[in-house]
Amino acid sequence: MPFVLAVCSQKGGSGKSTVVTGLADALVQSAQRVLVLDADAPQHTLLRWYGEAHKLPKFASLIVEAAPGADLHKRRWPAADTVIIDCPGRLDGVVRSALAAADALLVPLQPTYPDSWALSGLAETVHAAVQARKRPLPAFVVLNRLKPRTRLAKQADGLGQLLPNGFQMLDTRLRDLQGFQVAMGSGDTPLGLDPTGPAAADLRQLAAELLTHTRKTHGTDTRSPSSLRHQSR
Ligand SMILES: Nc1ncnc2c1ncn2[C@@H]1O[C@H](COP(=O)(O)OP(=O)(O)O)[C@@H](O)[C@H]1O
Ligand SMILES: [Mg+2]
Repeated sequence: MPFVLAVCSQKGGSGKSTVVTGLADALVQSAQRVLVLDADAPQHTLLRWYGEAHKLPKFASLIVEAAPGADLHKRRWPAADTVIIDCPGRLDGVVRSALAAADALLVPLQPTYPDSWALSGLAETVHAAVQARKRPLPAFVVLNRLKPRTRLAKQADGLGQLLPNGFQMLDTRLRDLQGFQVAMGSGDTPLGLDPTGPAAADLRQLAAELLTHTRKTHGTDTRSPSSLRHQSR
């Protein structure tokens, strides 16, 4: 059975699709077969991105498919190591079915108080999903679009305390970097476009931190190549 990661947030523009492309790239680079389900109709950011990305040989073990319905938890997964679900920015049946199917949840969060407050709706939906499926759902929050050495970055240090019960703030912070935007528009990710750049460093750190947590909570055989370990920023 693949490991299923749902990437959700109630807020559009928090970076879900961007994070999904970067994580998918990090995982295929560690020899995983990855299925990405683009559940965000009608935008389908990831299907559009994949229109270019699939031409890159490194993405031979990546498939991106549309997942239009609210039946993700009833799907039979194909042979893949990891399934990543890119959720819509609203709390609807699609998101509920993604939460029912997931082994973990990742929530990209812009580093402001209003964005943190808005997590309460997602937290209620997660709570209901956990009760219904009768197994826990580890939920991780990653701050995204952080501008280092700003007053906002300093204020962001306090956001971890605002998280709803059961949500855990990751140490990784994704900086606000053009590299993320340029890579998306090029049908690639920062790992391919500028592997030694800061956006790639942030993504590697995120992938490594998530692998550490999911190994703890899921006991998955997540392969952790040296490329994902001990990366400094
Ligand atoms: N860390 C980042 N640095 C700079 N721009 C980012 C970053 N993360 C996301 N963006 C930009 O923010 C916008 C929204 O991101 P996207 O991934 O489409 O969000 P969502 O899928 O949550 O709606 C896009 O223009 C994207 O390029
Ligand atoms: Mg999106």
